[in-house]
Amino acid sequence: MATTQLQRMDFSQRANALTAADFDAYWMPFTGNRQYKSDPRLIVGAQGCYYTAADGRQIFDSLSGLWCASFGHGRSEIADAIAHAARELDYAPPFQFAHPLAFELASRIKALTPTGMDHVFFTNSGSESADTAIKIARAYWQKRGATQKTRLIGRAKGYHGVNVGGTSIGGIEANQKHFGDLLATEHLPHTLLDDNRFSRGIPEHGAELADALEDQIAAHGADNVAAVMVEPMSGSAGVIVPPKGYLRRLRAICDRHDVLLIFDEVLTGFGRTGASFGAELFGVTPDVMTLAKNLTNGAVPMGAVVVNDDIYRTFMNADLPEYQVEFAHGYTYSAHPLACAAGLAALDIYERDNMVERAAALAPYFEEQVHGLRGLAHVADIRNLGLAAAIEIETVDGEPGKRPWQISMAAWQRGIYLRFGGNTIQLGPQYVCEREQIDSLCNVLEEIVPGVD
Ligand SMILES: Cc1ncc(COP(=O)(O)O)c(C=O)c1O
Repeated sequence: MATTQLQRMDFSQRANALTAADFDAYWMPFTGNRQYKSDPRLIVGAQGCYYTAADGRQIFDSLSGLWCASFGHGRSEIADAIAHAARELDYAPPFQFAHPLAFELASRIKALTPTGMDHVFFTNSGSESADTAIKIARAYWQKRGATQKTRLIGRAKGYHGVNVGGTSIGGIEANQKHFGDLLATEHLPHTLLDDNRFSRGIPEHGAELADALEDQIAAHGADNVAAVMVEPMSGSAGVIVPPKGYLRRLRAICDRHDVLLIFDEVLTGFGRTGASFGAELFGVTPDVMTLAKNLTNGAVPMGAVVVNDDIYRTFMNADLPEYQVEFAHGYTYSAHPLACAAGLAALDIYERDNMVERAAALAPYFEEQVHGLRGLAHVADIRNLGLAAAIEIETVDGEPGKRPWQISMAAWQRGIYLRFGGNTIQLGPQYVCEREQIDSLCNVLEEIVPGVD
């Protein structure tokens, strides 16, 4: 397409004007670029639970974007807040200076997150939040004089974004194997057990898998272990819900050995599980919590790391002249005014429209309908929690991703944006969607899932 145009954006017209060179210029993330560019699926608008495709079709958004636009697309309050901020304060440096919305949003997050999560560090994504959390954990122990406490423990199949720390502590081999040596980390076993197949909600079996943490801490010595990071529910690896009691056991082991517990709530934060946070649902408070996604309803990139008072005070009480930075970390766009404005507006909607209650109210129906797909050809497992579900598809030709990809492409033809990852298709509808939309989604899946090769 021609040079940048400053007039009003018209995504539809611009879609029609794209050239082969434009397609070639954009290296798309986590995408089979060659396949996409031979058969583009362009999105030009979004409203409520639907996208508009370039060919004018309404496409049901079955994953709230990427689990991030859960309060519905096109919220005018958020758009207005962003536009207003852009006019009044387009940018303010976050190092040594600040703007009021940053403090306001931090207070708001503090009030909404579980008791004890008291101080907020802003980032621009879930990946940055994961790496920031890792650095906070390591620096915390340094400040406490426990300089050997540097080792990190994650969990197999965990996903903590794509920066170096998150890629390392994450447990998805496909995301790690191309990059040579990463940060040294250990991994707990995942909790995907045959006994738990087709569990509804929180599975019964496997709490004892948490005890692997004891062994790993013992292997290295507690004096060498800084932190354990897990998602309360693994999302990207296909909605792996921890067994009953598992997270409590992790918490107890961390307490016993003075190891920080980090919950990555980037996906579970703000209602996805039918509770405000995974921490709340499972009754376990971590020391550090990472957030992103729904924080701005996906409208502006933003992440946050929330820490307990002990961690914050440890940094603040460091023996340094007052003018010196306590934590040598931060981003040009930390607490960007547009992101803060979007965050405040999104959290207004979150509270005013009782988003958690809406998600919780729809969740049983969603569970019922999704589990209704059991028995279809190729379906190996169905897992769900709140408004999250994954359908595991039997692998064909040694290619776990092939059928899920085929299903997703067929869904697009049928007017559904459907995410696939590994051997699963994944569902995370918006909290504002209706039962009829869940019905149509499941009806289409019922037709297309058995139809793939
Ligand atoms: C649990 C979790 N952590 C981190 C991330 C990475 O977030 P981002 O893509 O914003 O960097 C994701 C994204 O899906 C996630 O689900």
